Amino acid sequence: MALGNCKVAVALLLFLSCSSSFYGDARDIITPSQPIKDQEAIVSAGNKFELGFFSPVNSTYRYVGIWYSNISAETQVLWVANRNKPITDSSGMMKISEDGNLVVLNGQGEVLWSSNVSIGFNQSTAQLTDDGNLVMKAGPNGNLVWQTFQQPTDTYLPKMRLSANARTGNKTLLMSWRSSSDPSVGNFSAGVNPLGIPELFIWYNGHPFWRSGPWVGQNFIGIPGMSISVYLSGFTLQDEGDGTFTMSLIVDPASRFKYVLTSHGKFKEQYWDYGKQGWEYTWEAPSTDCDIYGKCGSFGSCDAQNSPICTCLKGFVAKNQDEWNKGIWTSGCVRMTSLQCDRIQNGSQVGKEDGFKKLEMMKVPAFAEYWSYASSSEQECKDECLRNCSCVACSYYNGFGCMAWTGNLIDIQKFSEGGTDLNIRLASTELVADNKRNMKVIISMAVIVGAIAICICVFLSWKWMATHRERKLISEETLSFKTREAQETVFDGNSPENVKEVKLEPLFKLKILETATNNFDISKKLGQGGFGAVYRGKLPDGLEIAVKRLSRTSGQGLEELMNEVVVISKLQHRNLVRLLGCCVEGEEMMLVYEYLPNKSLDAFLFDSLRKGQLDWERRFDIINGICRGLLYLHRDSRLRIIHRDLKPSNILLDHELNPKISDFGMARIFCGNEDQVNTTRVVGTYGYMSPEYLMKGRFSEKSDVFSFGVLLLEIVSGRKNSSFYDNEHSLSLIGFAWKLWNEGDITALVVPAISDPCFQVEIFRCIHIGLLCMQELAKDRPAVSTITSMLNSEIVDLPPPKKPAFVERQSSLDTESITQNQEINSINNVTISDVNGR
Ligand SMILES: *[C@@H]1O[C@H](CO)[C@@H](O)[C@H](O)[C@H]1NC(C)=O
Ligand SMILES: *[C@@H]1O[C@H](CO)[C@@H](O)[C@H](O)[C@H]1NC(C)=O
Ligand SMILES: *[C@@H]1O[C@H](CO)[C@@H](O)[C@H](O)[C@H]1NC(C)=O
Ligand SMILES: *[C@@H]1O[C@H](CO)[C@@H](O)[C@H](O)[C@H]1NC(C)=O
Ligand SMILES: *[C@@H]1O[C@H](CO)[C@@H](O)[C@H](O)[C@H]1NC(C)=O
Ligand SMILES: *[C@@H]1O[C@H](CO)[C@@H](O)[C@H](O)[C@H]1NC(C)=O
Ligand SMILES: *[C@@H]1O[C@H](CO)[C@@H](O)[C@H](O)[C@H]1NC(C)=O
Ligand SMILES: *[C@@H]1O[C@H](CO)[C@@H](O)[C@H](O)[C@H]1NC(C)=O
Repeated sequence: MALGNCKVAVALLLFLSCSSSFYGDARDIITPSQPIKDQEAIVSAGNKFELGFFSPVNSTYRYVGIWYSNISAETQVLWVANRNKPITDSSGMMKISEDGNLVVLNGQGEVLWSSNVSIGFNQSTAQLTDDGNLVMKAGPNGNLVWQTFQQPTDTYLPKMRLSANARTGNKTLLMSWRSSSDPSVGNFSAGVNPLGIPELFIWYNGHPFWRSGPWVGQNFIGIPGMSISVYLSGFTLQDEGDGTFTMSLIVDPASRFKYVLTSHGKFKEQYWDYGKQGWEYTWEAPSTDCDIYGKCGSFGSCDAQNSPICTCLKGFVAKNQDEWNKGIWTSGCVRMTSLQCDRIQNGSQVGKEDGFKKLEMMKVPAFAEYWSYASSSEQECKDECLRNCSCVACSYYNGFGCMAWTGNLIDIQKFSEGGTDLNIRLASTELVADNKRNMKVIISMAVIVGAIAICICVFLSWKWMATHRERKLISEETLSFKTREAQETVFDGNSPENVKEVKLEPLFKLKILETATNNFDISKKLGQGGFGAVYRGKLPDGLEIAVKRLSRTSGQGLEELMNEVVVISKLQHRNLVRLLGCCVEGEEMMLVYEYLPNKSLDAFLFDSLRKGQLDWERRFDIINGICRGLLYLHRDSRLRIIHRDLKPSNILLDHELNPKISDFGMARIFCGNEDQVNTTRVVGTYGYMSPEYLMKGRFSEKSDVFSFGVLLLEIVSGRKNSSFYDNEHSLSLIGFAWKLWNEGDITALVVPAISDPCFQVEIFRCIHIGLLCMQELAKDRPAVSTITSMLNSEIVDLPPPKKPAFVERQSSLDTESITQNQEINSINNVTISDVNGR
């Protein structure tokens, strides 16, 4: 190993010395003894970016900036230091000042710009990275004290993170240039608006100017082409859990690519066209008049294809008809018939209940609220809206949930593609008046004819099915017989004492599951995973179940399915979720689990409200429980099962908050003396996979141990490994823990909710064990049986941990690691096969 590292280092050195001689005497760093003057520049190690002095087009002023190297600076400055205070001649200089800050000076030694952080050391360095980030480090440990990515000007680069916190009001913003020849702060800014459901916004002097529409997990509702553009589809907006939302971007690192907020307030996606040697843009916003925020006032709707573009919503009239006719729309529209709630309040006649007018392909209004409690179906969302007097509109987005609006509806737009359905609440009389009588007759005629045709079809196919089913029942009998037989031969009934034997019913009839789940009614749906949807149900004897309906494309064949069912339904341990059986009829394949009401561990750990429910003793019990479950899988069940996807969302909690490991969709059974298996099909979740599994597809008990270590760390710290971002050192959560460990004080890692001095020793011991589990080499990691003894303090002295894997923040979304492996089923914490869903 050491030799290998050495070779790499030598190769790297050779490469570096070659490249630096190739590019003249270019360096990538500014140190106290090496300032840069006008006409000089520094170049990032891979020659991707350059920092130096430039003058904008039509200007003689000098500024310090960063640009893509090898493309003329004027057309594409990515970051400017002294944007508000230009240097008037070529006597400027950028250097490390006596207080350790990076400064820009003019010929008279006047400070025009400073990184302006308090450091306490004066031996800082500023290095330009191949991401286009100028990173300032100081102190004996080289701590990151400042970087340009946290203080962008008008350009967003891949790897930059724009974040905003609703509670503290802390925001990273892009600020436009005043004009293309003047980089000083202009009238436009752009960033994430974290209020309600987060969106991207452009502001004009602080007032909304454009918005992207709510982020619904994969895309922004207000950007219809988002799924078409290659680059925009790499966007993610992540909830960091503490009220912070962060925008980041996955993009091919080889491309030269940026987003710019222009001095005219356009947010523009640009890439460098190597053929044409010029910047091209693929997308920009706002692009039509309708994109301008609030163009048609409140309760007005904008359609760029229409003339005039603004109309009032159904049931509303212009507030000021004269203005409206002249094309002054800002005063908006008002409701014609008041809603039921208002009528009740005024004591007048109550009348019929309100209803909804559905508008299709819409950019939904601003300031949506997310109603998680009404998110199981569109009907529930609407019902909840009708029940709440302040709700004036709602929208249900598949896969995301229920959005609702109160007060004025502003910035609504009708698209010709994309968008979503918006339901506007109206008085019942408005809805009746809206229907044109003639249309009604034609439609109902069509409906009747259609219905008759459908009835005939259904009847015919039912008859056909009935004869067909008889034949199938016979083969089912055989199948069920074979299953039972298999069970008896495979198992020797070795189960731990604390488990009572339960009668198994490996095969369920489709009809029973249909009845139990109300025909797979959408209201019974618990969640959706990659293998299929999960429904809640109740058997005739009152037992609550969770049914996973495998989608046909899940790739699990009948034989494997039966094998898994037979094996896993026999696994019984109170820390494993119980698979009760399955159902295979025709095209349908389903797995039936016990139902657990309390959702999964992640819903507790990372939820600001619920995390308080888990004190240290509870957390310790959960850790112990998971460990026992894992021990049973690895050893006690005699089957040797590797779970392969251990993570908080796969730990379900019962009503007493006992943990139960769930989701054996990726589990592998080891035969005989097998210790390790290689696979080309790497499945699992980034952030929890051990290095040897992720890189080489090699998995063993020790890869589960690695995941367990990450889990342990997450339980103690209350932070997600995947979304932890340590701004100062670009460390992962693991790296952060390792750093604190080496500094001898890990208090900062412990979530405040549990930091009670009484438990400190136990908590620190758990972190120690976690670090042992995450060690780079599989052979160094303890086996689960050892971990159990460590947790119970049967083993008192723990060995010191070696350096864990993934200390540096993995850019876990790097395209590299995806192509290395043939298949990654669940990327970035996206659960691909949840049992109880979210
Ligand atoms: C530079 O100035 C010339 C002449 O005034 C003008 O035509 C041109 O548009 C300007 N360029 C920019 C980028 O402002
Ligand atoms: C730099 O530009 C020159 C000329 O335009 C081109 O030949 C060369 O390939 C470019 N190098 C890089 C790294 O883009
Ligand atoms: C750094 O600080 C020390 C003492 O505080 C001072 O003597 C020294 O000159 C400073 N170095 C630079 C480069 O400013
Ligand atoms: C540095 O920051 C302080 C407070 O944050 C501010 O008052 C001061 O003006 C800043 N100085 C410069 C040169 O930006
Ligand atoms: C705001 O964000 C900056 C950089 O991300 C951070 O240094 C600062 O502590 C934050 N301030 C608050 C009040 O959270
Ligand atoms: C910026 O906005 C202010 C106030 O609306 C206006 O006076 C000024 O002309 C604007 N500047 C530019 C460059 O548009
Ligand atoms: C109900 O009362 C409010 C104020 O009290 C008034 O603005 C509104 O017009 C009234 N609505 C009806 C239907 O009477
Ligand atoms: C109605 O909805 C608003 C906004 O979400 C909420 O604050 C309020 O509590 C709800 N009222 C009722 C009675 O549910």
